[in-house]
Amino acid sequence: MYILGIESSCDETAASVVVDGHQVLSNVISSQIKLHAAYGGVIPELAAREHLKNVYPVVEAALREANLKPQELDGLAVTSHPGLIPALLVGNAYAKGLVAATGIPYVGVNHFQGHLYAAFLEHPELLADPASYPILGVVVSGGHTALVLVQEDGRAKIVGTTLDDAAGEALDKAAKILNLGYPGGPIIDRLAKLGNENKYDFPRGLIGAAGKPVPAEHKYDFSFSGVKTSLLYQVRDRVLSDSELNDVVASYQAAVMGVLVTKATMAARDFGAKLVCLCGGVACNSYLRAAMKDACEKRGMNLLLTPPKYCTDNAAMIGGLGYHFIKQGKKDLLDMPVSARLPQDLGIFPFARNAKL
Ligand code: KG4
Ligand code: ZN
Repeated sequence: MYILGIESSCDETAASVVVDGHQVLSNVISSQIKLHAAYGGVIPELAAREHLKNVYPVVEAALREANLKPQELDGLAVTSHPGLIPALLVGNAYAKGLVAATGIPYVGVNHFQGHLYAAFLEHPELLADPASYPILGVVVSGGHTALVLVQEDGRAKIVGTTLDDAAGEALDKAAKILNLGYPGGPIIDRLAKLGNENKYDFPRGLIGAAGKPVPAEHKYDFSFSGVKTSLLYQVRDRVLSDSELNDVVASYQAAVMGVLVTKATMAARDFGAKLVCLCGGVACNSYLRAAMKDACEKRGMNLLLTPPKYCTDNAAMIGGLGYHFIKQGKKDLLDMPVSARLPQDLGIFPFARNAKL
């Protein structure tokens, strides 16, 4: 089945054609990073205007690269939630137009689920293997920081989430405080390699450090507001030399990533996960990838790292995920709404081995 994926939930306009959920024929991404950099974050209305300019050429390019006409598609999947409403509306309106014109089936999919599916685009064999379940998805992006447990029958539950900022947000805001540019994650990744991560002791939230017990209900949750405030106080009224800046950045990154690794491996152990999957934009981070690999190896846990090109927002993960819905007969109507929020009930993850919608 040839499925076209469309993604416009934040600041990337993306389209991709994926065959049978795994063979990526095209993966076109138009990023608006430069536009939003001036503001240090994404402005929803500006994003929507850019999506409007880009969605047609991006979809055209994805179809051209896949050598397909719209009527040759077997279905379409579009990110319908969660995300910035003005941005989502553009991708969804375009998708609906294409569906109305061609009559192909379409589904609105969950962007969060898409990030987890990205880990499996090149690994259908892991989804088909009963020994992979339950899977613990570690979804770390600019919008999410969550641990999601997925069973073989597709039932999924968030076992831990952030109480305030997402990990990517904590990096982007730190970069803003330090005047490093936007988005902060990749810049911090690069500068941290030049610094000493043990130079500064940044607080690690909700891990019982500094004698503060973690409430049982937050055992697997995250909090990054403390580390961010601590950074603010650390650098306030100071002029940092290049090497001091590198040390601050390295120490800050180590604090953020350290908590992610600690909580993810603790949850994997406690919930008996057979496979840990690291995904989302922050999963590009070289320190996090190495630290997670090291921690999983030490504990004898299987780890799947999403390839960097599928970590940040893309439409291959949306087209790939959409295939599993459409194959099982799910079909949305043209009045399908978009939504800013991640629903409490995540529904069935259709790509799990024995998932029945
Ligand atoms: O998944 P994504 O593209 O969009 C959301 O769904 O949020 O993630 C974007 C986030 C940003 O916060 C960005 O700073 C972060 O991913 N990011 C990184 C790296 N590359 C992107 N964070 C740390 N290290 C990186 N190399
Ligand atoms: Zn995303």
